[in-house]
Amino acid sequence: MSDGSRPIHPLWLRVTHWLNALAVVILVMSGWRIYNASPLFDFRFADSITLGGWLAGALQWHFAAMWLLAVNGMIYLLLNLGSGRLLRKFFPLSPRAVLVDLLDALCGRLSHADLRRYNAVQRTAYLFVMIDSVLLVISGLVLWKSVQFPLLRELLGGYETARRVHFFSMVALVAFVAVHLTMAVLVPRTLRTMVRG
Ligand code: HEM
Repeated sequence: MSDGSRPIHPLWLRVTHWLNALAVVILVMSGWRIYNASPLFDFRFADSITLGGWLAGALQWHFAAMWLLAVNGMIYLLLNLGSGRLLRKFFPLSPRAVLVDLLDALCGRLSHADLRRYNAVQRTAYLFVMIDSVLLVISGLVLWKSVQFPLLRELLGGYETARRVHFFSMVALVAFVAVHLTMAVLVPRTLRTMVRG
């Protein structure tokens, strides 16, 4: 869907978005398999929803997808920042605007007429997932190479805390994806623009 010849979502955004989505699915499913090998809490994920078959296999998937998310995510963030799109699309943003749009959304009053403009709830959710993904990669680096990244490790409160940060950032990401998918199903026009531009 386009306005004149200008697509709603530029090609680079669509490509990086879908690659990030693929990376996240692989990361989460292989991450659950890695978690099962040494559970942090008193539960395990069902093997049927994990990826990798066994610990070593899951680690291979996890590292491959980690590079995809780190490099592709960086390209998305740099292009977004460098082009000025990040400021244009996600700001201004105020707690009041989020509250008003959230109430409107809950009452089914939020308009989706202009797909070029994100409402305050979308802005918050997308900024949140950007920060959450950065936190996931940083805490993952600490777990992977704890000795080589002492500063990051200390900033995250040590190895054991980094493990928890990594786990709860994953929970937040999964919660985001669940809401995000529901919204894409409820307003399918947005899905078309994320595919066709
Ligand atoms: C796997 C299924 C996914 C589907 C079907 C999906 C769908 C969409 C759609 C339709 C939009 C456009 C929303 C609009 O125009 O109102 C969008 C935007 C976005 N999605 Fe997803 N998404 C998925 C996964 C993800 C994941 C895993 C992440 C996080 C890493 C993510 C992060 C984002 C972000 C940050 C935006 C805003 C992009 C921008 O404009 O800069 N999505 N998604």
